[in-house]
Amino acid sequence: MLWEAWQYFTTPVALPLAKEMGFLEEAIAMAARRKRCRAEWDTHFQNCQTTIREAVERCTQKRKIVIMGAGSLLDVPLDYLAQEFDEVCLIDLVFLKDARKRVKPFSNVRLIEQDVTDSLAACQKGAVQAKPALNPQGHKAWLDLSEVDCLVSLNLLSQLPLIPVSWLMKHFGISEQQADVLAKQLINEHLNLLNACSGVKCLIADRWVTEIDTQGQEVDGFDPLWEVSVPEVQKSWDWRVIPLGEINTPTAQVNRVGVSIY
Ligand SMILES: C[S@@+](CC[C@H](N)C(=O)[O-])C[C@H]1O[C@@H](n2cnc3c(N)ncnc32)[C@H](O)[C@@H]1O
Repeated sequence: MLWEAWQYFTTPVALPLAKEMGFLEEAIAMAARRKRCRAEWDTHFQNCQTTIREAVERCTQKRKIVIMGAGSLLDVPLDYLAQEFDEVCLIDLVFLKDARKRVKPFSNVRLIEQDVTDSLAACQKGAVQAKPALNPQGHKAWLDLSEVDCLVSLNLLSQLPLIPVSWLMKHFGISEQQADVLAKQLINEHLNLLNACSGVKCLIADRWVTEIDTQGQEVDGFDPLWEVSVPEVQKSWDWRVIPLGEINTPTAQVNRVGVSIY
């Protein structure tokens, strides 16, 4: 708890909403869970790194790579990317101290604290609508897509609706139906952003979540992408994200992570 509190009070955040809406707290909780579940999580991180390398191998130019949802950076092959590309842009709402320390040696790696949906500031005030991925001219204000040779969405897609939806339910009492519409919009607009890039796109995302009881029986399963249709899965693996005994529930949670490179 002390470590968590220390991180919370000493991590700088560029976007106040990252702290106010709970993203910083969530990032710290994830980092603490990773320490407890190292064995289960490291295989997943390795799989992500290998997948990003596969996407990079398909690039015909290597000017800029952008990774959305970079977070801890543990699933990012940082040394390799810094060598391969002129510029490496790592985007997330929050970066804890370890991530900040890891990028220090690289002059061509930038951490960018940015809301990739551009919707959170309005959601924080009660808006139940996602912003379109691109402006009417087909551009993104904070990202010149014409410079990007590889655009990666890293364990992010299923996470996009979670905090805004629970914030709006808690503070503005939105209905389940409104939540459903917003979640689908956030996911669809993120896919639109990815698709707007003419370089190599790499989508690494949870595609199915299963809950398993102490006997190893499946007790529940759901689509974490709110039934939005997503690019076809080319390869996948299971990530035991919550092993048995990790939290106060009698079930484990296994996420099926799927990859689409296109
Ligand atoms: C499951 S974590 C994955 C992070 C990292 N790839 C890792 O495994 O440590 C999802 C990440 O998405 C970030 N995130 C969620 N919503 C975001 C948004 N609207 N804009 C940018 N980042 C966001 C969170 O801060 C978190 O770091």
